[in-house]
Order: sequence, then C-alpha cells, then structure tokens
Amino acid sequence: MVKSRTKEFDAESISHHYDVSNDFYQLFLCENMLYTCAYYRDPEGDLVQAQQDKMDLVCRKLRLSPGEEYLDIGCGWGSLAIWAAKHYGVTATGVTLSREQAEWGQAWVKREGLEDRCQIHHMDYRDLPEGQTFSKISAVGIIEHIGIDNYPFYFTWVRNRLRQGGLFFNHGITHNKHWKRTSQWDFVTRHVFPNGELDSITHIMDVMERQNWEILDVENLRLHYARTCHQWYENLEKKAERAKEIVGERLYRIYRVWLVCSAEAFYSGSLGLYQVLLQKHEITRKHLPPGTREDIYKTFLLENE
Ligand SMILES: C[S@@+](CC[C@H](N)C(=O)[O-])C[C@H]1O[C@@H](n2cnc3c(N)ncnc32)[C@H](O)[C@@H]1O
Repeated sequence: MVKSRTKEFDAESISHHYDVSNDFYQLFLCENMLYTCAYYRDPEGDLVQAQQDKMDLVCRKLRLSPGEEYLDIGCGWGSLAIWAAKHYGVTATGVTLSREQAEWGQAWVKREGLEDRCQIHHMDYRDLPEGQTFSKISAVGIIEHIGIDNYPFYFTWVRNRLRQGGLFFNHGITHNKHWKRTSQWDFVTRHVFPNGELDSITHIMDVMERQNWEILDVENLRLHYARTCHQWYENLEKKAERAKEIVGERLYRIYRVWLVCSAEAFYSGSLGLYQVLLQKHEITRKHLPPGTREDIYKTFLLENE
C-alpha cells in the first residue's frame, strides 16, 4: 500500500509523472494525446483511429446527448472532454492534477473555439466546488491513482456529484486476483507512478456496490491495452533520439522498459483493463438507459456495411 496518501502527496506524484514534458508525451501518444487504452475495432489498426474510436465508445456508453453537463475526472490533456463537447454537444468540464496537461488542454479548447462549452481545470477532483452536480461523469485511467483505502470515499464522492439516474463510466487497470507484488511493480512505484495502486476488478466492483451503485455493464479490454502499450513503445523507439534530447537518457530508458513490460503484462493477463458503466440508482422509472447495447455500436456497424 502507498504510505501517507495526502492531497500534497498525490499532487507531487502526479507532477512527477505527468509534468515531465508535453513535447515528450506527444512523441509517443500522437495527436490525440490520450494516455489510456485505445479501442481497436481492427485488431491490426493504428493508434490514432483506435483512440478516436475509444472516445466514441466512452461517449456512447455514457449516452451523452446535447446540453448535458458532463464531468471528466482525471482528464489528461483534455482530449475526451473536447471530443465530447465537439461531437456530442455536451457542456464538458475536465479536471487534472497536472499543470502541464491543463495548460495544454486550455490552449486546445481555445483553438477549437469551444470556450463556452468546455473547461479544463488544474485541480484535485476533491476540490470541485461543493454542490456542483453533473448528468454524466467519466473517469478514464484515474482509479490507478486513487488508492484502495480511498475507494469508498471516491465512489461516494462521484455518486454525490451525479444527478439522480445519472451514469458514471469508470475505465481502469486492474491486476488479477492472484497477483503478488513483484520487483517490476516496485520499479513502477519507484520510477513511474509513485502513488500507483491496483486492485482486482471483483474487489473494485464490490466497493462500487457497497457505495450503492448499480453496475450496468462491464467490458474487458485487456488485449486492446497490450496493443496500445506496444504501439506507444514503437512510437517512442522511432523518436528515441528526440526523446533523449527532451527528457535525457535515464528517463527515456525508464519509459521504454515500463512500456514494453506493461504490454507483456496485458498480453499475459497479469494486468487487466475494465470499463464499467454504473448508474446512480433511483426507484422511479424515469432515466433508464436502453436495455441493449445496440445503440452503442450502431454507427460502427453502419460504417462497416
Ligand atoms: C493515466 S492519465 C489519464 C488521462 C486521460 N483520462 C486519458 O485518457 O488520457 C491519469 C489522469 O488522472 C489525473 N489525476 C490523478 N489524480 C487526480 C486527482 N486527485 N484529481 C484530478 N486529477 C487526477 C492525472 O492528472 C491524469 O490526468
């Protein structure tokens, strides 16, 4: 377990990893600037398309519709919040603990002319103003930073920020039930994610249920993450010289080994990636989501015809 998990410790840990250099991240994440598992409709597909498809998948699972107020917790460089505002007509708010990410996201919002519908804030999600609520909330790749002991607080916090019947989408890395701490994991917490902490999907869902969420849908995208990490690794290798110029040999090597080992861990199944869709349960029948998944894949299916 991570010791002394305070807001200050989390802020330092996030800055340690994410405030390295936006130019460096752009070398391997590509133009979408997404730092989470992509969604490969084509198993041999390329990263940029797969990241766009991932954003669509998230927006469709959340059944985003124009005018809704939507929060993306741990929004990275703002990609998903901007995508949702631009293509789904929502009013989007993104929060990230990384200053460099927030500055990048704010400039991107301006370039897109979306200032009236999308805001990116540099802040801890816990500092969002009391009483501000949303119709839909997503958290893509932040549960890894929350800390297992904090799960009850976190899932209750999200629930309190959602209006009745609202949907919450949680996307995160897990380890399998029989996972044991290894020297590789020590390497990750020492050099990559100081506040990183993983859990099994069954325990995460147990806490979700205890915090009164209704679990609507669960999907395992482990092999998609294996390919994503592998493509990040290949991109980094192609730009190795530039990467070393930006962050130095040591950090370049840390990322290189970490990306290749992560790809392997997802291929082998010691790590997993789950998307879970939850609803703030209500006893009325007003806000029920569709009873099938067909609406999520409709456009994908049409495109393939
Ligand atoms: C792996 S990145 C994922 C970024 C983005 N969602 C994506 O898909 O590319 C994790 C994000 O969580 C954010 N984060 C971690 N702890 C946070 C906190 N307490 N409050 C706000 N953001 C946090 C980080 O700043 C970072 O943007």
